[in-house]
Amino acid sequence: MEAPPFLAACRREPVPHTPVWLMRQAGRYMPEYRAVRERLGFLALCKSPDAAAEVTVTAALRLGVDAAIVFADILLVLEPMGVGLEFTRGDGPVIRRPVRSGADVDRLAEVDPAALGYVAEAVRRARAALPARVPLIGFAGAPFTLASYLVEGGGSRTYARTKALMTDPGAWRALMERLVRVVAAYLNAQIAAGADAVQLFDSWVGCLSPADYRAHVLPHVRALIAALTPGTPVIHFGTGTAGLLEAMRAAGGDVIGLDWRVDLDAAWARLGHDVAVQGNLDPVALLAPIPEIRARAAAILDQAANRPGHIFNLGHGILPETPVDHVRALVDAVHELSARR
Ligand code: CP3
Repeated sequence: MEAPPFLAACRREPVPHTPVWLMRQAGRYMPEYRAVRERLGFLALCKSPDAAAEVTVTAALRLGVDAAIVFADILLVLEPMGVGLEFTRGDGPVIRRPVRSGADVDRLAEVDPAALGYVAEAVRRARAALPARVPLIGFAGAPFTLASYLVEGGGSRTYARTKALMTDPGAWRALMERLVRVVAAYLNAQIAAGADAVQLFDSWVGCLSPADYRAHVLPHVRALIAALTPGTPVIHFGTGTAGLLEAMRAAGGDVIGLDWRVDLDAAWARLGHDVAVQGNLDPVALLAPIPEIRARAAAILDQAANRPGHIFNLGHGILPETPVDHVRALVDAVHELSARR
């Protein structure tokens, strides 16, 4: 059997149509997801492998996308570090005991990989339930984005405390090295459980100058990617990364994620066509009428020009107010408009 289009595109091989999946494709915009969340809290859902696998598979099949992504969260790896992770209603995630100094870094608990075994189990069950033609993506937060939550205690507008810790080289290095170890083991466990590809979410790395990225992030992401089981495609994603693309490419990944603040064709030319790209529709475009969504999808496909190695996605996650039929219309438009003759 031929490789599924998503995996072929990760390897820049020819495809019958451009593969498409969407970040946060299982989430609050979907009634089936909201129904599961009425019985289970967010963490309880993540920790129930059957429910997490069900949410993963339902979203992928309902949308007709070319890949599923395991239902989990980038912050789950922080819980066994003993920092008091909570998902509060309305306010998003909170770290009760943030890391602000080298002494705080030394106090972090060493993570026993078994503590995150429920995610590997969700991967195993989702893989078993999915059709062979639908690959399953595992994922984790990248060290910088995870560190930003640990240090700030939640989301941030300026990342001032995270940048302050960066000026203490010993403490920063110790924190990044610890996160690299945990995340590498966690992603390798997902690969061993059946993940066909993995995505590294460096969602907030775009707040850094290129010089800070190169000095304080790049070597750690490179070490992390080098520690992953060979042969499984790695998608390296961030937002606000227009100033960082070459450096992210240098850090590694088979596929580089692009947000909508860059033109896909110009960004791909900068990266080089010997790497695959993923993106890059503005998630807000999914709130527009369907003809507008189709026109914007067509514009992105034109920029990709049927070159091997484009995976269609949004530039960031689906917004909760997005109509499900608009998401379906996008998936159909991508398949139809990109069908190779
Ligand atoms: O893409 C998918 O469908 C898989 C599931 C997934 C979730 N989170 C589920 C989730 C993935 C890939 C993530 C990644 C994630 N989590 C990121 C990186 C991607 C990005 O958006 O940049 C980040 C930064 C987080 C941290 C996080 N988790 C935040 C900031 C929040 C609160 C904001 C929000 O959107 O609610 C969460 C909670 C969360 N993670 C929800 C979901 C479906 C909503 C929880 C709910 O059901 O109420």
